[in-house]
Amino acid sequence: MPRIAYVNGRYVPHGAATVHIEDRGYQFADGVYEVCEVARGFIMDMRRHLDRLDRSLSELAIAWPLHRSALEVIMREVVCRNRVHNGLVYLQVTRGVARRDHVFPPPGTRPALVVTAKQTDPAAAARKVEAGVSVITVPENRWERVDIKTVGLLPNVLARQTAREAGAQEAWFVDPDGTVKEGAATNAWIVTADGTLVTRPADHGILRGITRAAVMEVADHLGIAVEERAFTVEEAKAAREAFITAATTVVMPVVAIDDAPVANGHPGSVTLSLRRAFFDIAEKSPAC
Ligand code: PDD
Repeated sequence: MPRIAYVNGRYVPHGAATVHIEDRGYQFADGVYEVCEVARGFIMDMRRHLDRLDRSLSELAIAWPLHRSALEVIMREVVCRNRVHNGLVYLQVTRGVARRDHVFPPPGTRPALVVTAKQTDPAAAARKVEAGVSVITVPENRWERVDIKTVGLLPNVLARQTAREAGAQEAWFVDPDGTVKEGAATNAWIVTADGTLVTRPADHGILRGITRAAVMEVADHLGIAVEERAFTVEEAKAAREAFITAATTVVMPVVAIDDAPVANGHPGSVTLSLRRAFFDIAEKSPAC
């Protein structure tokens, strides 16, 4: 079955989907994006993702490309047309197409919208959870506004590639004071000796992850305490458990940090219980 993408008003075969060479996303990374998980036919936490999109757009003074409810319809349509039951839906909004000039384009320039969806393999994800992932640490080198979900992801790309080359699956950005910010495309968490979840406050310096917010609700349901504070790499290495969260990974155990095993080097029970409870507690919108 051919994949279908939505591009600026049209549903087109994925392979034939194109954007203009003067799209400001292409030339300046002048755009924002969202990735939502699709699980068992539901788009997960769609409301929160679109709230965050709204914030990203407004922080950059980019207009909504169309009404929010129309975007919801398109997201569902792309998921359904691609028959994605478990996977991801990606959306990207840029400031639009204009003759190359750093300043904003003339008023009335229409923001550009692309929506795609892809299937993922739950069995492969389950195997990854069973094994857990390794992370490396890298110095923070991103701009201060990483709370805006922009497509300007070059430091994240380079960090992920460094992780890959080191045989790890994620890289944690670390501040000069030794505290962990977040992963290249995930939020970072630890579980302390007394079973408390610790994750960095999301007021600034990290992306306010939607999975992060949902996991806090899951923790509340399970009676697990959450503390929002910075933690160091040393504390993480000595933690009872560590894990990462994102729409792409949901809750994923971290079993090694810079080659040092976390606890016994196996996924932790608190992490796994959060992952198990996630689907039931997160918000679900039927796709089709
Ligand atoms: N990344 N931190 C960063 C830097 C991210 O890029 C992401 C998500 C997260 C987790 O956010 P959420 O829980 O809302 O997915 C944290 C997406 C999945 C990506 O770029 O593919």
